[in-house]
Amino acid sequence: MTAATVTVAVHLRDTDRRAALARDVRIGLAARPRELPPKWFYDEVGSALFEAITRLPEYYPTRAERAVLADRAAEIAGRTRADTLIELGSGTSEKTAMLLDALGEEGTLRRFVPLDVSEATLRTAAAGVAAARPGLAVHAVVGDFETHLRHLPDGDERLVAFLGGTIGNLPPGPRARFLAELGALLHPGEHLLLGTDLVKDPARLVAAYDDPVGVTAAFNRNVLAVVNRRLDATFRPERFAHVARWDPDAEWIEMLLRAGGDQEVTIGALGTQVHLADGEELRTEISAKFRPAGVAAELAAAGFEHLECWTDPPGDFALHLARRT
Ligand code: SAH
Ligand code: AVI
Repeated sequence: MTAATVTVAVHLRDTDRRAALARDVRIGLAARPRELPPKWFYDEVGSALFEAITRLPEYYPTRAERAVLADRAAEIAGRTRADTLIELGSGTSEKTAMLLDALGEEGTLRRFVPLDVSEATLRTAAAGVAAARPGLAVHAVVGDFETHLRHLPDGDERLVAFLGGTIGNLPPGPRARFLAELGALLHPGEHLLLGTDLVKDPARLVAAYDDPVGVTAAFNRNVLAVVNRRLDATFRPERFAHVARWDPDAEWIEMLLRAGGDQEVTIGALGTQVHLADGEELRTEISAKFRPAGVAAELAAAGFEHLECWTDPPGDFALHLARRT
C-alpha cells in the first residue's frame, strides 16, 4: 500500500493572525454594539472547548448532523462521485470520516483538503485522516475561509463540505459574499454540501448556547484570553458574564459578554484604552438558524442549484446538497 502524504500550506502565519486580530479588535470595539468576530475563539483552548460543547446534552447540532451524514453519506458519494473533498472550517474532521469512507467505497476519492484557521487542530486532524487512509493525498490549508478560498486547489470533480452550521456564524452580508466567492471558485457540475441549523423552539436554542456546566461560557470568555495574549491586553475574563439570547427578528442566537462592573482595559498592541461601563455588552458570535427555503434562495443567488435538503428525524438540523450551475 502507498504511504499517505500530508502537506500543510500555511496562508495565515502568526504575524498575519496578530495583524488581522488587531484590526478586528480596533474596529469591533469602536462599533456599536461592540463586537468581535467568532473566528478568534479557536486557539488551542477554544478548539478543545468547542469539542467539549459538541458532547453536551443540550448542544444537539453535532449529533443531529452526524445522524444525517450516517444516513446519506453513501448517497452523497454516489451522486457527487467527487475525487477531491474540500472541507471548510474543518476542525477535527470527525464527522467527515463518514464522507471520506463513502467516497472511498465509491472508488472516486483521491484528495482531501481541510481548511481551518486553527493550525494545531488542523495538523492533528490531517495527520489522523492520512494515517487511517493510505493512498489518500491530504493537503491541509491553514487559512481563513473568508479571505483564502483562492488558495484551494483547482479541479473539476470537487465536493466542498461546510459542516457544523458554521455558515450561521457569518452575518447576512459576509455570508452572501462568501457563498458568491465559493460559487465563483467551483466549476459547473461541482458540489457543495452545507450544514445548517434550523429555526426551532427558542428555549431549546438558548439552552444549547447556555449550558448549566458552563462549558459554553468558558468558550465565550476564552476570546478575551486570546486578545490578552496576542495583543497584550488586560481584559479580566472572569469579570464578564456569558449571555446567550434569541433574536426572533434576525432568527439567530447571539452570544455576548456583559461587563460586570466598570472596567478599564488596556490593549497594548493598539496603544489604546477602552472603558466598558457596568452592563455593557460585547457581541462575540451570532449563530443564525435557517429555514430550508431561505437556504435554497441564498444558494441560488450564489450560482448553485439546491438539489436536496435532508434533516435528522426530529428536523433539528439540515444538510443541503447543491450543484454549481
Ligand atoms: N466542522 C467542524 C468544526 C466546527 S467549529 C464541525 O462540524 O464540528 C468551527 C470551525 O471553523 C473551527 O475549527 C474554527 O477554527 C473554524 N473557523 C472559524 N472561523 C473560520 C474562518 N473564518 N476561516 C477558517 N476556519 C474558521
Ligand atoms: C461552530 N459553530 C457552528 C458553533 C455554533 O453553534 O454556532 C459555535 C458555538 N458557539 C457556541 N456553541 C457552539
